[in-house]
Amino acid sequence: MTKPVLPPFPISRPRRLRRTSWVRDLVAEHRLDVSDLIWPVFVREAGTERAIASMPEVTRLDLEETVAAAKEAARLGIPAIALFPQVPMDKKSDDGREATSADNLVCRAVRALKKAAPEVGVMCDVALDPYNVSGHDGIVRDGVIVNDETVAVLVRQALTQAEAGADILAPSDMMDGRVGAIRQALEAAGHKDALIMAYAAKYASAFYGPFRDAVGSKANLGKSDKRSYQMNPANDDEALREVALDIAEGADMVMVKPGMPYLDIVARVKQSFNLPTFAYQVSGEYAMLHAAAGNGWLDLDAVMMESLLAFKRAGADGVLTYFAPRAAKLLRGA
Ligand code: PBG
Repeated sequence: MTKPVLPPFPISRPRRLRRTSWVRDLVAEHRLDVSDLIWPVFVREAGTERAIASMPEVTRLDLEETVAAAKEAARLGIPAIALFPQVPMDKKSDDGREATSADNLVCRAVRALKKAAPEVGVMCDVALDPYNVSGHDGIVRDGVIVNDETVAVLVRQALTQAEAGADILAPSDMMDGRVGAIRQALEAAGHKDALIMAYAAKYASAFYGPFRDAVGSKANLGKSDKRSYQMNPANDDEALREVALDIAEGADMVMVKPGMPYLDIVARVKQSFNLPTFAYQVSGEYAMLHAAAGNGWLDLDAVMMESLLAFKRAGADGVLTYFAPRAAKLLRGA
């Protein structure tokens, strides 16, 4: 493409295109729409604690409340909900076996949602951290998170979720080869339409703190960290290799996580692969904006909308955000 040489000032006056609201709208290059949003929700057993101290205005939802949330999503036009369970301590083990139980909290939630609001997509995390006493996404042997053994359990977890009716399986564990193993197992079991959104480039980030409070894995994890499987924040070429592998293994959609500090990765991934690409505005990003707003330092709605639009500008097709219902209401003028 040959670019026209811009005539110098005063022939060029870029401010002409910014003078009024209508012309700004007319030439806007990117837009945020309700249909870009995926709403992550925390699911709890009835009778357990709702509040999450580090995530203002987000609560853990019991099954009834989760169903109400899905109905709200439908009303607002939010296409999909992502489920994250707070698993009771007595259901956690060292092999994460509760993850593969057809009657676990997530599976019960999936069935309730698909019954009450079938038009809303349901996405499930495939990873063992809510179910493991170690708080790790995989199985730990002698201090090592063992890859292939973990993948075998993840495959069973994904099949269990697909069986319950999950529309999108989202492996967030960063084990090697899990997308391929899950895709093959889904095909073999007849779940040919099950979508896989791979957490393809997921970084070992300190921005996940509030999430770990919410699902209760922080105490389990203790001083341990996830750097032997989640990516080093120093790397970006490696993200492209991770994404390439997940696509080759059968991912329909890929995700970059966290969001705001990793927009360069979102842009590179989208430009390199042209596949549906998502970004996860994670719990710490949400908490950060909320905390500043709570102190009167930032305008919450304004920074929320600006941050979400930035994902679109970077090339994301959609965003997982705890702001989903708030943003949807603003976008719809409700
Ligand atoms: C766990 C998982 C995490 C998030 C989504 N799935 C946390 C982690 O890897 O420790 C983080 C989401 C957030 O911070 O909002 N597999």
